[in-house]
Amino acid sequence: MSLLAVSNLTKRYRRGDNTIAAVDDVSFHIEPGETLALAGPSGSGKSTIARVVLRLIEPDDGRIEFEGDDFLALRSAALRARRARLQMVFQDPLAAFNPRATVARVLDDPLRIHGIASRSERPRRIAALLERVGLTADLAPRAIHEISGGQRQRVAIARAIATKPSLIVLDEAVSALDVSVRGEILELLLDLQRQEKIAYLFISHDLGVIRSIAHRVILLDAGRVAENGDARTVIDAPQSAIGKALVAAAPRLNRTLMRLASAGLD
Ligand SMILES: Nc1ncnc2c1ncn2[C@@H]1O[C@H](COP(=O)(O)OP(=O)(O)OP(=O)(O)O)[C@@H](O)[C@H]1O
Ligand SMILES: [Mg+2]
Repeated sequence: MSLLAVSNLTKRYRRGDNTIAAVDDVSFHIEPGETLALAGPSGSGKSTIARVVLRLIEPDDGRIEFEGDDFLALRSAALRARRARLQMVFQDPLAAFNPRATVARVLDDPLRIHGIASRSERPRRIAALLERVGLTADLAPRAIHEISGGQRQRVAIARAIATKPSLIVLDEAVSALDVSVRGEILELLLDLQRQEKIAYLFISHDLGVIRSIAHRVILLDAGRVAENGDARTVIDAPQSAIGKALVAAAPRLNRTLMRLASAGLD
């Protein structure tokens, strides 16, 4: 049984008098501990898929099975319980969190809401989460807006793993970071995956990053799956028109690959 099985997903948006299918009959699956990347041009439907999988928006059609449940049919308590297993990290943690909240508060919320640790236990759990993502416990009282972009993304990852998820959706989670910080965060994600067997739905426009972190990749074009396969095979020798165009438009790809290789990621 797949961890996540998405079948015939369609999401339409109204545009003036027309509707456009932002996601058009898309199917894929993710196995436990696996990284599936979604790539494709701007507007090809990547974030829409992420939002539907996270149940932030409802699809027009399709089915999602997560950990064996009909995920779109889950309501209230059952949905809340399953949500703990399906977490997210977005591009901009400043937008995702209240920037004035402290780091401790951001990490306390999931532990409290999902009943994972008692009030007296939580400070210790927060310190352990911070250490798990390569930060120190003295960051806990700092405000989100006071820490660096890389530290913020580590806090976002700590928050995501607080509820022991089986799947994390990452939408351009490393795109805003500069190259050296990006490499460190990718290394952290790989380490967490190895240790905790977490699967990732990893959305990125950077084929170099995808090649270094993903097992498989889906290339989207105007809401449809254009190509689908082993990440290195697809990126090294794309077969679809959009795949060829994306690789041709990525002159940084080779340089990125060299940098990742020298950082020990390849
Ligand atoms: N709330 C919305 N209302 C109307 N149209 C939308 C909405 N959200 C997305 N769209 C449209 O759906 C399509 C897919 O958008 P989506 O954000 O999923 O693309 P994306 O692949 O994530 O792009 P990017 O790489 O720029 O993040 C686009 O045509 C977009 O304009
Ligand atoms: Mg997007």
